[in-house]
Amino acid sequence: MQSKIDQYTAEISAFSPANADELETFRIKYLGTKGLLKDLFDEFKTVSPEEKRTLGKTLNEFKKFAEEKYQLLKEQSETSTDTQSDKQDLTLPGEGFALGSRHPLMLVRKEIIEIFKKLGFNVAEGPEIEDDWHNFSALNFPEEHPARDMQDTFFIKKGGEKGDIALRTHTSSVQVRMMEQGQPPFRAIMPGRVYRNEAISARAHCFFHQVEGLYVDENVSFADLKQTLFTFVQELYGEGTKVRFRPSYFPFTEPSAEMDISCTICKGAGCQMCKYSGWVEILGCGMVDPNVLENCGIDSSKYTGYAFGMGIERITNLKYEIRDLRLFSENDIRFLKQFKTEIV
Ligand code: PHE
Repeated sequence: MQSKIDQYTAEISAFSPANADELETFRIKYLGTKGLLKDLFDEFKTVSPEEKRTLGKTLNEFKKFAEEKYQLLKEQSETSTDTQSDKQDLTLPGEGFALGSRHPLMLVRKEIIEIFKKLGFNVAEGPEIEDDWHNFSALNFPEEHPARDMQDTFFIKKGGEKGDIALRTHTSSVQVRMMEQGQPPFRAIMPGRVYRNEAISARAHCFFHQVEGLYVDENVSFADLKQTLFTFVQELYGEGTKVRFRPSYFPFTEPSAEMDISCTICKGAGCQMCKYSGWVEILGCGMVDPNVLENCGIDSSKYTGYAFGMGIERITNLKYEIRDLRLFSENDIRFLKQFKTEIV
């Protein structure tokens, strides 16, 4: 029996499996229920009591040795399979990564800017945190006048008191800055984010985006304003889109108007978007009030001008039939990816 143990010990020591199958054969041969170890234990029962004393120890040591060897080989074969699968196949195609898409508001903003550029307008920008002068007073909003309530303003408190600093409620403030810094002619549009203290709903938000426009020169008339806006609408929504002007009121323009276009969704037949009227309002406009020109150091007896302002969200809603303003700021990929365009 001792010689068998010696022989198996030598065999086991020398054993090195080429794969998992060989290791399994090894286990069955030595450690299986009908394996050689089992045979040795069976044989052990038959030896004399004297021999049992010495052989018992040797047999137990051999059993431990065989089991440990198997355990070790098993672990090795498991880790080596891992390294196998880690090996990279360099012929596989690369993993693609998804390109982002332009935000619909930015797409429409770009489109609006491009149309006005073709009509000879520059692009002007200004700060989002404004003072009372640029947002209100210079624009002919009298102090404490109810017209200021047309635009629910976020004021920034200074030492607990309502100061004259606010988040701009429109980009008309950029028009003031522009006129203060030079002399006509001015022909520019002012895209930018504006803020109003409104409860958030499908139809209102506490911030939105505008494009305003200003043209000041000698002999600028309301007819110029109408022609420019008409051309803009044909370019943006397609030939044949109708426009109409309704009298309105803004402190900074006189006369003032609101412009409607024939509903882009039902083409005037009547739908939910136009509340079955066939028309939708898209912007406010008018001739710059002489007081505004004077406030900015421009001679109102020599120059006249027109101004207009529109919300990009509204223009976008009409273009893509979006009915809830909140979608624009929720960053839901399912919404945004519908506007896939090449990145420019
Ligand atoms: N500033 C106006 C608004 O935000 C829009 C406007 C601009 C109207 C210029 C007339 C002329 O509502």
